[in-house]
Amino acid sequence: MKNTVTIIDNRTNKEYEFDIVDATRGPSVVDISTFYTQTGMFTYDNGYTSTASCKSDITFIDGTKGELRYRGIEISELAQKHSYLDVCYLLLNSKLPSEEELNDFDLELRHRAFLHEGLRHLFQAFPAGAHPMATLSAATAALSTFYYDHLNINNENDYQEMARRIIAKIPTIAAFAFRHSIGAPFIHPDIDRSFSENFLYMLRAYPGGKMHRNIKGENVIREIEIKALDTIFTLHADHEQNASTTTVRSVASTGAHPYVAISAGISALWGRAHGGANESVIAQLEMIGSVENVDSFIARVKDPNDSFRLMGFGHRVYKNFDPRAKILKELQDQLKKELVLDSHLMDIAHKIEEIALNDEYFIKRNLYPNIDFYSGVILTALKIPKSMFTPVFVIGRTVGWITQWIEFKKDKTMKIARPRQLYLGK
Ligand code: ACO
Repeated sequence: MKNTVTIIDNRTNKEYEFDIVDATRGPSVVDISTFYTQTGMFTYDNGYTSTASCKSDITFIDGTKGELRYRGIEISELAQKHSYLDVCYLLLNSKLPSEEELNDFDLELRHRAFLHEGLRHLFQAFPAGAHPMATLSAATAALSTFYYDHLNINNENDYQEMARRIIAKIPTIAAFAFRHSIGAPFIHPDIDRSFSENFLYMLRAYPGGKMHRNIKGENVIREIEIKALDTIFTLHADHEQNASTTTVRSVASTGAHPYVAISAGISALWGRAHGGANESVIAQLEMIGSVENVDSFIARVKDPNDSFRLMGFGHRVYKNFDPRAKILKELQDQLKKELVLDSHLMDIAHKIEEIALNDEYFIKRNLYPNIDFYSGVILTALKIPKSMFTPVFVIGRTVGWITQWIEFKKDKTMKIARPRQLYLGK
């Protein structure tokens, strides 16, 4: 017998039955695809808090338990035992790579990291001081002009190539966007450097110099920095049907090119309620200025007449703790021993954390530090400029977006995203 849900319209006593579809993990869903045809009404779900928009087997989140898995594997295991490229391979291929597969994948990404010279010229058109997220979104959309006829977006055989190209090029576009924003010459990728190291290199290097060592003879890019950035990329790699991924899927549903879909995802991520929060966390800590000001700041956050929010706190899905934040807190403690962390900002952050975790306002609303609360301090320690925090998120998330795009394209039952509305006008 099928499991169903029955809805009774109390105005007419008419009953409507809908199938329950079980998930392999997490809540079952009620299939309401026939709701309108059966009842003549729409469902209303502001912000999709109770709506599953697709079927997926990529990422699983249990917000109550604070659980996150990519392709069934726990995030803590991936962060501790695997590289970001392992994780990319896992998301794209549903399995971790063998040593040989990883080497091939790595080599291909290194070769694809270079940008078409035409694309490089595009950066000159943007004003000096442009925010790197704006440039990144525009240049990513422009990628589709270079790879339009090249590949068939309806041919599944081309999907892996599309994926590997965008994963490889996004760090270069992001680094160019930053260097343009400060008027610095572009540094091309170095084929001899790994994925995460290369990004730090493109941000920091001087043209012509190999930059292996500084004048004191120390390695300029330290192993611990590469590992920390790699972990940050892993933690951002995918996160189920969040706002930017939903944007990517919506654009995919119209049949548009994947790189413009990803450009739209980048735009959606930029907002402060989503990926832009990591930049806002540090801006907020700087604004608070000192530990003595934290109490009055928290009072403002709690004031119902003030729309002020504590950046890096709260999450739509995690209502207990964000497992990514837990891993980053541990990473922050490790880095404290080896790198120069801004202790002034950390003191303010610790005080906020201490107050918020014990305050009735935050406890009642299940508000815990999210990934962005810790990533800002770590990225500052890696000498990554504030304007590049959200682009770092983009680099990590690109694999998730393109994997979700591929899943969408392969699911022949998926339709164009076209929600309805509750009309209240004249
Ligand atoms: N500071 C203060 N109060 C908050 C915060 C916060 N950061 N977040 C939520 N609340 C309060 C709201 O005011 C509301 O209170 P009320 O019931 O008295 O009206 C209640 O908690 C519920 O808030 P909603 O906005 O309904 O929660 P929602 O699930 O829609 O929002 C969101 C989640 C957008 C992440 C929110 O918590 C927020 O704005 N946080 C700050 C920005 C941030 O850190 N974003 C990063 C998210 S993680 C990521 O994208 C990688």
